Amino acid sequence: VQVVILPSAAEAEQHVATLFAEQLRRKPDSVLGLATGGTPVGVYRALVAAHRLGEADFGRARTFNLDEYAGVPSAHPQSYAAYMRTHLFDLVNLTPDRTHLPEGDAANAEDACRLYDALYRYYGPADLQLLGIGLNGHIGFNEPGFASAPGGTHVVRLDESTRRANARFFGADEQVPEYALTMSAGRILQARSIVLLATGAAKAAIVARALEGPIGTDCPASLLQLHPDATVVLDREAAGALA
Ligand code: F6R
Repeated sequence: VQVVILPSAAEAEQHVATLFAEQLRRKPDSVLGLATGGTPVGVYRALVAAHRLGEADFGRARTFNLDEYAGVPSAHPQSYAAYMRTHLFDLVNLTPDRTHLPEGDAANAEDACRLYDALYRYYGPADLQLLGIGLNGHIGFNEPGFASAPGGTHVVRLDESTRRANARFFGADEQVPEYALTMSAGRILQARSIVLLATGAAKAAIVARALEGPIGTDCPASLLQLHPDATVVLDREAAGALA
């Protein structure tokens, strides 16, 4: 794993956005693997700015997101589909037929997972996959101790800690969904290149565990150590516990 440490979160976000813009220039029909959550917001902001400057053309690209909450329709403001429209899709030249997320409120979640996985196998793997890291080391919504998922995309029960961490995005009277649809760790690791971004002191301990600890499913992000082209981009705070 290549580790890049930058002084501030803004610089780390800009760096990751530049990697994506370069990927699009190198291969305009790239398949981009995308993530949601708090961490990538600044990456998307920088990518939108690059797009407006003519430095990031999504016209031939295709995107696949890691995950979506189960039971949440894409029109719901807390859906990851809505997040992606707000932060990226509606702000660059990406048409809806080229953006993919698991269908959160499908009548049959297992069928939705199979369909998503079939699409990913057809168009993928991602040329460049963006990841965040959960406070418990999850990637996508593959929580610690996950069982391998031969189907690729599958339904998972979210850890209490994950639901607590994500409660900040929901209203006081709303519940964080208990289940999600996520790409498996195995699928994620099929991406040709992976860039994981972590910022802020709260992530320092788990970043050190993922990069310097033993490789195993009790810290899903540690599996990146097995990937031939993984880069971890950190601000100084998130790098604070590295040896
Ligand atoms: C999001 C995802 C999650 C987040 C992780 C960190 O699509 O798959 O693994 O990357 O929960 O979230 P933030 O960035 O909000 O700390």
